[in-house]
Amino acid sequence: MEVPSRWYNIIPDLPLPLPPPVDPPDRDSSSIELLNQILPVEVIRQQFSADRWIDIPDEIKELYKNFGRPTPLLRARRLEEKINTKSKIFFKYEGALPTGSHKLNAAIPQAYYAKKDGIESVITETGAGQWGAAVSLAARTVGIKSTVFMVRSSYDQKQQRRYLMEMYGARVIPSPSTTTAFGRSVHGSGSGSLGIAMSEAIEYALKTGAKYLVGSVLEVVLMYQSIIGLEVIGQLNEIGEEPDVLIGCVGGGSNFAGFTYPFIGSNAKGRFIAVGPAEVPKFSSGKYRYDFPDTAEILPLIKMITLGADFEPPPIYSGGLRYHGVAPTLSMLIQQEKVSSREYGEKISAEAAKMFAETQGIVPALESSHAVAAAIDEAKAADMRGTSSVIVFNMSGHGLLELDNYMKIYGDR
Ligand SMILES: Cc1ncc(COP(=O)(O)O)c(C=O)c1O
Repeated sequence: MEVPSRWYNIIPDLPLPLPPPVDPPDRDSSSIELLNQILPVEVIRQQFSADRWIDIPDEIKELYKNFGRPTPLLRARRLEEKINTKSKIFFKYEGALPTGSHKLNAAIPQAYYAKKDGIESVITETGAGQWGAAVSLAARTVGIKSTVFMVRSSYDQKQQRRYLMEMYGARVIPSPSTTTAFGRSVHGSGSGSLGIAMSEAIEYALKTGAKYLVGSVLEVVLMYQSIIGLEVIGQLNEIGEEPDVLIGCVGGGSNFAGFTYPFIGSNAKGRFIAVGPAEVPKFSSGKYRYDFPDTAEILPLIKMITLGADFEPPPIYSGGLRYHGVAPTLSMLIQQEKVSSREYGEKISAEAAKMFAETQGIVPALESSHAVAAAIDEAKAADMRGTSSVIVFNMSGHGLLELDNYMKIYGDR
């Protein structure tokens, strides 16, 4: 199977026109204009493109190949045996990428387009470190520098992730920092947050003329991730299977969208299940309305399912699922009932992860473990109905750099 040559953009295939981003009413300066300043030129163009297909430049395709794309589509036979199901369970393994998750798929094009703009440095923020690691490697690969504002509590606790970024050559700054005015204004006030780190990253990008790279939520990021689903379509064709159910976890929505949109866009039969954490109940308690995508309220308002930008998530271990909202296109597809959603608590997800590790050998990222839990439930439900399903889920990352989190959940054995 070849690496696909085009990304898929769902915008022209949505059931309704997508409500546009808008400036907050009480602002002097335009936050939409801010995006033009901080994002690479081609990224902003693609963000607002209505073209269904966007060619992947050969250089990016080569980088995807170099880092192991296509990633494997594997059958979880031993898991099937363990739960004694008649269904077939397949998973797309994005953990096979060098930084351990799907995030690299979106970091590579953004770093590449930043370099094309003649920019020498890119900036981002990271929570637990998956996105920061992807940006660090992508920047190093295209030959530019990277600076990552890392939430201070993670910086202190996740030494290995921090060091991974530094190994790739990134400058990692704990946030709140003294590097930016915003950081100085809140410095000493605690362990930081993604909102503070993001504000620092954007301020620093504006000050230094560097470009800012985005990890999820924006449509263009979801489109870069479509490489996942396009590969899965080819891989399932090769083995003559057609999915009945496709499942992915949702933080901002990028891995779920990348995995399912190519199927949704081609009117594939199947059901699509988006899984979130019960501790951040955006699917069950969120409202579909205009809200800030960022806690710092710097970016334009977007229409999405949200718990409110000021929602303070509990400290669940799957850091990547703590986001308060759901990407606008995915929010619309959920509203229109094209995609269904459900929530699992940390305990159920971690148990599913343990069963997966024991049977398949792969320790899922805690984020991905929510998808594992849903896949197991779907198989059991099919057995109860007396049917068998072809269930495919996206294993968005591995959890080898978060064994400390599993240790906190299960205790030191
Ligand atoms: C492994 C993994 N899966 C899923 C997510 C959730 O993000 P998204 O919904 O954008 O895929 C993250 C975010 O950090 C992650 O690291």
